[in-house]
Amino acid sequence: MEVLEAIYGRRSVRHYTDEPVAREDVLEIIRAGSWAPSGLNNQPWRFAVVRDGEKLTALAGLTKYRHIIEGAPVAIAVFCDRAVMYNDTKDHQAMGACLQNMLLAAHALGLGAVWLGEILKSGWQVRELLDLPKGLELMAVIAVGHPAEERRTGERRELGELILKEV
Ligand SMILES: Cc1cc2nc3c(=O)[nH]c(=O)nc-3n(C[C@H](O)[C@H](O)[C@H](O)COP(=O)(O)O)c2cc1C
Repeated sequence: MEVLEAIYGRRSVRHYTDEPVAREDVLEIIRAGSWAPSGLNNQPWRFAVVRDGEKLTALAGLTKYRHIIEGAPVAIAVFCDRAVMYNDTKDHQAMGACLQNMLLAAHALGLGAVWLGEILKSGWQVRELLDLPKGLELMAVIAVGHPAEERRTGERRELGELILKEV
Protein backbone atom coordinates (compact mmCIF):
# COMPACT_ATOMS: atom_id res chain seq x y z
CA MET A 1 0.00 0.00 0.00
CA GLU A 2 1.27 3.46 -0.87
CA VAL A 3 2.18 5.55 2.13
CA LEU A 4 -0.13 8.45 1.27
CA GLU A 5 -2.99 6.06 0.52
CA ALA A 6 -2.47 4.50 3.95
CA ILE A 7 -2.27 7.87 5.71
CA TYR A 8 -5.47 9.17 4.13
CA GLY A 9 -7.34 5.85 4.19
CA ARG A 10 -6.70 4.88 7.80
CA ARG A 11 -9.57 5.42 10.22
CA SER A 12 -9.94 4.35 13.83
CA VAL A 13 -11.72 1.00 13.95
CA ARG A 14 -13.56 0.16 17.17
CA HIS A 15 -15.58 -2.95 16.27
CA TYR A 16 -13.99 -6.27 15.36
CA THR A 17 -15.02 -9.73 14.21
CA ASP A 18 -14.20 -12.80 16.33
CA GLU A 19 -11.44 -13.81 13.93
CA PRO A 20 -8.11 -13.99 15.76
CA VAL A 21 -5.21 -11.80 14.64
CA ALA A 22 -2.20 -13.81 13.46
CA ARG A 23 0.88 -13.48 15.67
CA GLU A 24 2.94 -12.55 12.59
CA ASP A 25 0.60 -9.59 12.01
CA VAL A 26 0.99 -8.43 15.61
CA LEU A 27 4.75 -8.70 15.26
CA GLU A 28 4.62 -6.75 12.00
CA ILE A 29 2.64 -3.98 13.71
CA ILE A 30 5.19 -3.85 16.52
CA ARG A 31 8.09 -3.95 14.05
CA ALA A 32 6.59 -0.99 12.18
CA GLY A 33 6.32 0.85 15.51
CA SER A 34 9.94 0.09 16.28
CA TRP A 35 11.02 1.67 12.96
CA ALA A 36 9.74 5.07 13.99
CA PRO A 37 12.37 7.78 14.37
CA SER A 38 13.57 8.58 17.89
CA GLY A 39 15.94 11.18 19.30
CA LEU A 40 19.49 9.77 19.45
CA ASN A 41 17.87 6.62 18.05
CA ASN A 42 17.19 5.65 21.69
CA GLN A 43 14.10 3.60 20.71
CA PRO A 44 12.26 4.09 24.01
CA TRP A 45 9.22 1.98 23.04
CA ARG A 46 8.29 -1.24 24.79
CA PHE A 47 5.25 -3.39 24.02
CA ALA A 48 3.02 -5.84 25.87
CA VAL A 49 0.70 -8.02 23.80
CA VAL A 50 -2.55 -9.03 25.51
CA ARG A 51 -4.66 -11.84 24.08
CA ASP A 52 -5.71 -13.69 27.19
CA GLY A 53 -9.47 -13.27 27.71
CA GLU A 54 -9.25 -12.62 31.46
CA LYS A 55 -6.45 -10.10 31.03
CA LEU A 56 -8.36 -8.33 28.26
CA THR A 57 -11.41 -8.08 30.53
CA ALA A 58 -9.30 -6.71 33.36
CA LEU A 59 -7.63 -4.23 30.99
CA ALA A 60 -11.04 -3.19 29.66
CA GLY A 61 -12.14 -2.42 33.21
CA LEU A 62 -9.52 0.34 33.39
CA THR A 63 -11.08 2.59 30.75
CA LYS A 64 -14.51 3.96 29.97
CA TYR A 65 -13.94 2.53 26.47
CA ARG A 66 -14.15 -0.96 27.93
CA HIS A 67 -16.41 -2.23 25.13
CA ILE A 68 -13.63 -1.62 22.59
CA ILE A 69 -11.07 -3.73 24.43
CA GLU A 70 -13.61 -6.39 25.37
CA GLY A 71 -14.50 -6.75 21.69
CA ALA A 72 -10.90 -6.91 20.47
CA PRO A 73 -9.00 -10.18 19.95
CA VAL A 74 -5.76 -8.47 20.88
CA ALA A 75 -4.60 -5.30 22.57
CA ILE A 76 -1.09 -3.92 22.55
CA ALA A 77 -0.04 -1.81 25.52
CA VAL A 78 2.69 0.59 24.48
CA PHE A 79 5.12 1.94 27.06
CA CYS A 80 7.98 4.39 27.15
CA ASP A 81 11.01 3.08 29.03
CA ARG A 82 12.14 5.75 31.49
CA ALA A 83 15.54 4.06 31.76
CA VAL A 84 16.48 5.09 28.21
CA MET A 85 14.66 8.42 28.02
CA TYR A 86 16.76 11.58 27.67
CA ASN A 87 14.20 14.33 27.13
CA ASP A 88 10.53 14.06 28.04
CA THR A 89 9.22 16.04 25.08
CA LYS A 90 11.39 14.36 22.47
CA ASP A 91 10.84 10.87 23.85
CA HIS A 92 7.09 11.39 23.91
CA GLN A 93 7.21 12.70 20.35
CA ALA A 94 9.04 9.53 19.33
CA MET A 95 6.33 7.49 21.04
CA GLY A 96 3.69 9.30 18.99
CA ALA A 97 5.55 8.43 15.81
CA CYS A 98 5.77 4.81 16.96
CA LEU A 99 2.04 4.66 17.65
CA GLN A 100 1.13 6.19 14.29
CA ASN A 101 3.40 3.69 12.52
CA MET A 102 1.56 0.90 14.32
CA LEU A 103 -1.86 2.19 13.23
CA LEU A 104 -0.69 2.53 9.64
CA ALA A 105 0.80 -0.97 9.68
CA ALA A 106 -2.46 -2.44 11.02
CA HIS A 107 -4.35 -0.65 8.24
CA ALA A 108 -1.89 -1.86 5.58
CA LEU A 109 -2.40 -5.43 6.83
CA GLY A 110 -6.17 -5.11 6.37
CA LEU A 111 -6.73 -4.95 10.12
CA GLY A 112 -8.53 -2.30 12.13
CA ALA A 113 -7.06 -0.54 15.13
CA VAL A 114 -7.67 2.34 17.48
CA TRP A 115 -5.32 4.31 19.71
CA LEU A 116 -6.79 4.38 23.22
CA GLY A 117 -5.53 7.25 25.33
CA GLU A 118 -8.28 7.54 27.93
CA ILE A 119 -6.81 4.50 29.69
CA LEU A 120 -3.71 6.55 30.59
CA LYS A 121 -5.57 7.69 33.69
CA SER A 122 -5.05 4.09 34.86
CA GLY A 123 -1.42 3.86 33.70
CA TRP A 124 0.05 2.27 36.80
CA GLN A 125 -2.84 -0.22 37.12
CA VAL A 126 -2.17 -1.36 33.54
CA ARG A 127 1.49 -1.81 34.39
CA GLU A 128 0.64 -3.80 37.53
CA LEU A 129 -1.98 -5.91 35.74
CA LEU A 130 0.70 -6.92 33.27
CA ASP A 131 3.29 -7.40 36.01
CA LEU A 132 5.74 -4.97 34.47
CA PRO A 133 8.41 -2.88 36.21
CA LYS A 134 7.86 0.67 37.47
CA GLY A 135 10.15 2.38 34.95
CA LEU A 136 7.63 1.86 32.17
CA GLU A 137 5.26 4.73 31.41
CA LEU A 138 2.05 3.79 29.59
CA MET A 139 1.64 5.79 26.36
CA ALA A 140 -1.44 4.11 24.89
CA VAL A 141 -3.23 0.85 24.35
CA ILE A 142 -3.94 -0.10 20.75
CA ALA A 143 -6.91 -2.41 20.22
CA VAL A 144 -6.55 -4.49 17.05
CA GLY A 145 -8.82 -6.85 15.15
CA HIS A 146 -10.43 -7.63 11.83
CA PRO A 147 -12.81 -4.76 11.08
CA ALA A 148 -16.52 -5.39 11.65
CA GLU A 149 -17.59 -1.94 10.52
CA GLU A 150 -17.76 0.01 7.29
CA ARG A 151 -14.86 2.38 6.88
CA ARG A 152 -16.05 5.84 7.90
CA THR A 153 -15.07 8.94 6.03
CA GLY A 154 -12.87 11.05 8.24
CA GLU A 155 -13.05 14.74 8.95
CA ARG A 156 -10.18 17.19 9.03
CA ARG A 157 -9.92 20.94 9.06
CA GLU A 158 -9.12 22.68 5.81
CA LEU A 159 -5.46 23.46 5.32
CA GLY A 160 -6.34 27.14 5.18
CA GLU A 161 -7.30 26.96 8.87
CA LEU A 162 -4.06 25.25 9.81
CA ILE A 163 -1.33 26.97 7.89
CA LEU A 164 -0.46 30.06 9.85
CA LYS A 165 1.82 31.64 7.35
CA GLU A 166 3.59 31.07 4.05
CA VAL A 167 6.26 33.65 3.57
C1 LIG B 1 -3.69 10.67 21.85
C2 LIG B 1 -4.94 9.98 21.34
C3 LIG B 1 -5.83 9.45 22.24
C4 LIG B 1 -6.98 8.80 21.80
N1 LIG B 1 -7.80 8.21 22.72
C5 LIG B 1 -8.90 7.54 22.30
C6 LIG B 1 -9.71 6.86 23.25
O1 LIG B 1 -9.42 6.81 24.45
N2 LIG B 1 -10.82 6.22 22.78
C7 LIG B 1 -11.15 6.22 21.46
O2 LIG B 1 -12.17 5.62 21.10
N3 LIG B 1 -10.38 6.83 20.53
C8 LIG B 1 -9.26 7.49 20.92
N4 LIG B 1 -8.43 8.09 19.99
C9 LIG B 1 -8.78 8.04 18.56
C10 LIG B 1 -9.34 9.40 18.08
O3 LIG B 1 -10.63 9.58 18.60
C11 LIG B 1 -9.34 9.42 16.54
O4 LIG B 1 -8.03 9.22 16.06
C12 LIG B 1 -9.88 10.76 15.99
O5 LIG B 1 -11.22 10.92 16.34
C13 LIG B 1 -9.75 10.84 14.47
O6 LIG B 1 -10.41 9.75 13.86
P1 LIG B 1 -9.66 8.76 12.86
O7 LIG B 1 -8.55 8.10 13.66
O8 LIG B 1 -10.70 7.75 12.46
O9 LIG B 1 -9.14 9.54 11.72
C14 LIG B 1 -7.26 8.72 20.41
C15 LIG B 1 -6.34 9.25 19.50
C16 LIG B 1 -5.18 9.84 19.96
C17 LIG B 1 -4.15 10.34 18.94
